[in-house]
Amino acid sequence: MRFQTKTIHSGVDKDSGFNSIITPIYQTSTFRFEDVGKTRGYDYSRTANPTRKALEENLASLEGGLAASAVATGMSAITTVLHYFRSGDHIVCTNDCYGGTERLLRTYRELFGVQVTYVNMANLDAVKAALLPNTKALWIETPSNPLLNIIDIRALSEIAHNGGALAIVDNTFLSPYNQRPFELGADIIVHSTTKYLNGHSDVVGGAVIVNRQDLAERLHFLQNALGQGASPFDCWLVLRGIKTLVPRMRLHEENANAVASFLSGHRKVRRVYYPGLKSHANHDLARKQQYGFGGMVSFEVNGGMNEVNDVLRRVKVFSLAESLGGIESLICHPVTMTHASMNPELREKAGINERVIRISVGIEDVNDLIEDLDQALSFTVETPKTHHQQSTEKVPHGVTS
Ligand SMILES: Cc1ncc(COP(=O)(O)O)c(C=O)c1O
Repeated sequence: MRFQTKTIHSGVDKDSGFNSIITPIYQTSTFRFEDVGKTRGYDYSRTANPTRKALEENLASLEGGLAASAVATGMSAITTVLHYFRSGDHIVCTNDCYGGTERLLRTYRELFGVQVTYVNMANLDAVKAALLPNTKALWIETPSNPLLNIIDIRALSEIAHNGGALAIVDNTFLSPYNQRPFELGADIIVHSTTKYLNGHSDVVGGAVIVNRQDLAERLHFLQNALGQGASPFDCWLVLRGIKTLVPRMRLHEENANAVASFLSGHRKVRRVYYPGLKSHANHDLARKQQYGFGGMVSFEVNGGMNEVNDVLRRVKVFSLAESLGGIESLICHPVTMTHASMNPELREKAGINERVIRISVGIEDVNDLIEDLDQALSFTVETPKTHHQQSTEKVPHGVTS
């Protein structure tokens, strides 16, 4: 099956009793044994549940993996993966990762002595230099949140493997439609399914997907032992969302391209971050390793917090909210919202300054989105453009899957 067909069919056929087209919600905590020591494949829903299984099979198939675990949130997915490691192990992490990832890694360092080094992973020599004899993993997030830097997954997977470490990729920002890290050498993929995979802003969920038998066995153990599994209803909603992943992602990208072009030409915008722009520092790498540029755009306004707040307060179609990847457009201020939990020094080093505004471009009519941003940017304060200012630029059509 090709990708789009898999989104609709993989794993969903779980009703041997009545042949329902749609996977039933097996809202049960436990399952009757057929005889002593004999089940029909399920005994207790923390361990496994048919609705969850359907989603897990679907996710594994979309990413081209061997096994998946559907868990309660994206942070549960990251928590589960961190249990592959033990006290004294060392992880090299991208320096502009999601704020919650940094907070959790900091907690694991404090509580359990897991060592972490943050590096700019665009610099492959810096990554190699950060490797220690006890390095067990490279934690890769690409495109990064919120600056949309692109990291070379193939090169980093090679570096990880040469150092005897795992390459772990947080693939939340693109979804498997736009990026498949296993094709580039990664070993473990994590997702916040809250975002594009579910796509309708009505579930928090997460997933871990692996492509090696030993990692799969450990994952099944951790899923049961940690009790992180997602509820049957949430799994059902995510599975339902995935059925429209392809058309949604195409529209997200089309709208994001148009919005990024518009912002690039706006006199009150200082800088635009969108990998689809030719002027983006990693545009060529994005074209090479991704099947599209996604729906996330960040930008800096001319001015400071007054102007930023003005834009955030003026938008009408965009909602000021955390999260991303839903059908509706959201706007957020990373420094005070999504990345508020991040160590301020690390945040500053990663280039996440107070002028950065992140938007998750939804699938509304793009003219409404552009008009909304245009009126929101009509604040009165104007400061001179900096050398970062980018020229008006048409975005090339995204690479399609
Ligand atoms: C890249 C990335 N990974 C992980 C997470 C955590 O996901 P969740 O909020 O579902 O726990 C987020 C949340 O915004 C994210 O953006």
